[in-house]
Amino acid sequence: MHDGHHAVLAGLGAWLPPRVVDNDDLAQHLNTSDEWIRARTGIGERRIADPDVSTVDMAVAAGRNALRSAGSDAIDAVVLATATPDYLCPASAPQVASGLGLSGVAAFDVNAVCSGFIYALATAAGLIAGGVAGRVLVVGADAFSRYCDPADRTTVPIFGDGAGAVVLRAGTADEPGALGPFDLHSEGENAGLLIVPAGGAKQRQSADPHDHYLTMQGTAVFRHACARMAESARAVLERSGLGVGDVDRFVGHQANIRILQATAKQLGMPNDRVVANIERVGNTSAASIPLALADACDDGELQPGHRVLLTAFGAGLTWGSTLLTWPDVKPGGEA
Ligand code: UT7
Repeated sequence: MHDGHHAVLAGLGAWLPPRVVDNDDLAQHLNTSDEWIRARTGIGERRIADPDVSTVDMAVAAGRNALRSAGSDAIDAVVLATATPDYLCPASAPQVASGLGLSGVAAFDVNAVCSGFIYALATAAGLIAGGVAGRVLVVGADAFSRYCDPADRTTVPIFGDGAGAVVLRAGTADEPGALGPFDLHSEGENAGLLIVPAGGAKQRQSADPHDHYLTMQGTAVFRHACARMAESARAVLERSGLGVGDVDRFVGHQANIRILQATAKQLGMPNDRVVANIERVGNTSAASIPLALADACDDGELQPGHRVLLTAFGAGLTWGSTLLTWPDVKPGGEA
């Protein structure tokens, strides 16, 4: 019956490090406050990975939960969206695959930073459409706490660590869970707005240790994010022949509650359709959208049959969107 070549969501998993760091914890060593962080970002606390937990570890844990949710370990490819891989070389996805007992399958990383999950979904959908793979595990995992200068109050309060994953299988375009269309964009001339300047091939090492950490021109990024997320959301809706009123849930990248609300306002979408878990997890970059999906499923906010709009924006700059009707899928939990 499901013999098409259309990517269909068939499983969902999440994993968060157990260590909770709240705003008051940060205010003990940074010149900030719970009031400022909540008012400017909507973040109350975030999870931080312990030093012995890496991006691969988090991705494996989320991937395992997604496989449980899908009810099958059969996977032909692993696509990992991350900007904080365990090593600059090689990619982390092969280690995620072998950590899940999937050694031998195709596995590679996609780096579109906070838009990475949408880009990885599109990549996986392409593998399925081309007949290269029948079942793909797509993981979004990031440990941006590792890239933040512990003394930098402009980045530390924003980012949290975590991982989320989905299983995509080949199916048909008209069934629940079918993904698409996709809208993807980039603007490399603005790479400097959100960047880790050193460590890569351009500058392996810098005399200034700050260059090895993330720097963000927050206000400029904020403005781009609001404009581009609304633009991309409109583009996928238009391509599907749908209107904003047809969207039951808007699951946007959780970078700042004000960005989500401003995007919804520009779209003319009521705030009760906006899924937000940023208060509890902060900005988890590529993990953000699957973690928000899992939370919304767990608290009953997201139900089978809901039409869901996914939109992300991140460093690069990159942004993009896709649509699906939520299938009868629940997040897989620990055994
Ligand atoms: O993941 C995808 C990409 N990332 C984003 O989408 C993030 C986008 N940007 C943002 O979310 C916001 O720009 C921030 C939350 C990062 C900053 O909010 P803002 O409203 O743009 O604040 P600002 O940077 O303009 O700073 C306002 C004031 C400044 O003080 P003065 O110059 O007005 O005296 C900052 O120095 O707040 C100060 N400030 C802080 N104060 C207390 C900056 N960070 C903090 C802090 N605690 N942590």
